[in-house]
Amino acid sequence: MADRPGVDREFAFDPNDAAKAKDFARMALIRKEKPVCRPADNIVLVTRFDDVTAVFRDSKGFSSVGDMRAPGIVVPSEESFLGELDAPLHPKIRRVLHRTFTIAKAQESEPFTRQAIRRRLERIVAAGQGDLMAEFATPIPGSVSADLLGFPESQHDALMGWCNDLLHSSWPPTGKTEKGEGIAAGFPELAACIDEQIERRARDGSLDDLLASMVRSRGEDGWSIGAHHTRTLVVNMLAGSLSATYMVGNLLYRLITSRDFETALRRDPANIDRAVEESLRYEAPVAFLWRTARADSQIGSTPVFKGEHIMCHITAGNRDPEAYPDPETFRLDRIDPPEHLAFGSGPHLCLGNHLTRLIGRVVLEEALAVMAKTKLELAPDYVWHCVNHLQEYGPEQLPVRIAR
Ligand code: HEM
Repeated sequence: MADRPGVDREFAFDPNDAAKAKDFARMALIRKEKPVCRPADNIVLVTRFDDVTAVFRDSKGFSSVGDMRAPGIVVPSEESFLGELDAPLHPKIRRVLHRTFTIAKAQESEPFTRQAIRRRLERIVAAGQGDLMAEFATPIPGSVSADLLGFPESQHDALMGWCNDLLHSSWPPTGKTEKGEGIAAGFPELAACIDEQIERRARDGSLDDLLASMVRSRGEDGWSIGAHHTRTLVVNMLAGSLSATYMVGNLLYRLITSRDFETALRRDPANIDRAVEESLRYEAPVAFLWRTARADSQIGSTPVFKGEHIMCHITAGNRDPEAYPDPETFRLDRIDPPEHLAFGSGPHLCLGNHLTRLIGRVVLEEALAVMAKTKLELAPDYVWHCVNHLQEYGPEQLPVRIAR
């Protein structure tokens, strides 16, 4: 193997600087000039569709452990999200969850999803104004996931409030807060609410939902997920749903600001599903993810070394002209486009992908129904700002007014 190369000065940037890490013009230039490069010490940036796909699919070569933590931080497996686990534990848990995250189960969620979406939109219309991010896009996906898990609707808003606090605390990078180690110490109300539901399912065998299937999970060797890890994974699924929040925000922003888009969706309802896919491709809500090289190997023709952190740039891959003609344009007329990378690829492919697609479709259908009767417009002084989170992409706010 060659000597370890240093930083590529021409393409250097700080991957922890959100403005630079989500500068898509910079990523397009890097993809053209040096698609696998080293923008900082010990970091390898991957920008081509095929290369990002290959890294995601190669979980033996590239580890997910530490994926969301600060360098050097190791948390116990019971405090780990699914996306930061490797085999052998990852596939065992995934097998349990996979039984629920099917297309059929997502379809069963449609009545609840539609009623929740309709009710929240009606509330904003009745008030004459509101912030579509805070009052609509933020609570909806988590509520749909909480319903699938088996939480009563009366608890959904509180659960999502606590999960939002957790995501914006020091827990993701360090596994602790100033109150102590782990979710239970840092977020006691959240932990108590989840634990109570776990205990109910341990006592009452008649309950049949996602949480019950986790509580009753058993492997051939007597393995089970366990109450502590079940609690963490519930937080994982609720917090993971917040990515769908940004997809909803991206779709609604386009709908409110583009007459052509609205017309295309009304003209042909098949365009609604296409719009959801194209939004996920073009404005992926999770812009990039991390892996760690387990051994010296190569990505494309570029050597990478054991221990290097791999920044897998989803948006750069999704806008690769080799994969999508005219990649910088949002188009509804793509013929058989390849599966985009918004949900990752391979063994860690997002479990919530069917549910997310359902949410996207129903949001557009219900928003179109509202817009047939009333005029939804953005506040006159509105300026689009990206959400203040390193990896997420979508509007921070969408303040709207209703004109009849
Ligand atoms: C637009 C919406 C969403 C986006 C863009 C998204 C994105 C992703 C991505 C990129 C991954 C792969 C992580 C990796 O490879 O390291 C992932 C995994 C995951 N997502 Fe999502 N997600 C979304 C919605 C959801 C929802 C609604 C849920 C919950 C029901 C969810 C639960 C999960 C879980 C549990 C994993 C871990 C899967 C594994 O590691 O095996 N996601 N998501």
